[in-house]
Amino acid sequence: MSSDDFVIEHGLNPERMPNHIAMIMDGNGRWAKKRLWNRVKGHEKGAEVVREMVRTCRKLGIPILTLYAFSTENWGRPKAEVGALMLLLRRFLVSEQDELTRNNIRFNTLGQTEHLPEDVQVSIDIVKKLTRDNDGMTLNLALSYGGREEIIRMVKRIAGMVESGHMAADAITERTVADHLYTMGMADPDLLIRTSGEMRISNFLLWQIAYAELFFTRTLWPDFSEAELIRILKDFQCRERRYGRVN
Ligand code: IPE
Ligand code: IPE
Ligand code: MG
Repeated sequence: MSSDDFVIEHGLNPERMPNHIAMIMDGNGRWAKKRLWNRVKGHEKGAEVVREMVRTCRKLGIPILTLYAFSTENWGRPKAEVGALMLLLRRFLVSEQDELTRNNIRFNTLGQTEHLPEDVQVSIDIVKKLTRDNDGMTLNLALSYGGREEIIRMVKRIAGMVESGHMAADAITERTVADHLYTMGMADPDLLIRTSGEMRISNFLLWQIAYAELFFTRTLWPDFSEAELIRILKDFQCRERRYGRVN
């Protein structure tokens, strides 16, 4: 089935689909707590939902999916929880290789991956290389990602070019900034979804979401589903995006 058929079958308009969806996958801990389970159980179920969302977005023909998996601030969680998240990441990088290849998905990361355990960095490089030429969809996993860190990194790089005489300060444009972020060369998210009912951005894609449509759902990430994503997309397609102008 082509992605247009899948889109139409679910009552969506193929001409109004987002180019880039970003998701703040929140609520794993509370999902587990409600069941009197360890938080890690929530992350495990959350990882299954990640797989489902990647598959769904691919079927929908979404060109870019960006998932917030681990923030710079998340390093401050208990060591055992960070360790469990790294283990899930390791597993994901192995278990999804076939799926990503089969579905023509390019794997990419956003963030300070140099801070991740070394074996995880090696696995990331392997999956990136393996999927480098895939052009069906780009999956960005934000890992050790912080929007402010990304901005500082960009400023340092541009300042370096100015300092060395490779660029005039006056020549800096929005394009220059965008080209020095982790998302260089990618369209900005049209749609940002946060699960778990929190109404905040938590340091995610600060520059890139300037004109994204925001959706907050009370659903906890481990309960998020294809059906809910499709409902959100229907709502998205009804929104009028004015970009400051009048229609
Ligand atoms: C999101 O779920 C996953 C990560 C931040 C890694 P949480 O672990 O933040 O779950 P809550 O917010 O405590 O319920
Ligand atoms: C945001 O969730 C980060 C990720 C989903 C990876 P958090 O649970 O870490 O954010 P806060 O603490 O609610 O801001
Ligand atoms: Mg949370």
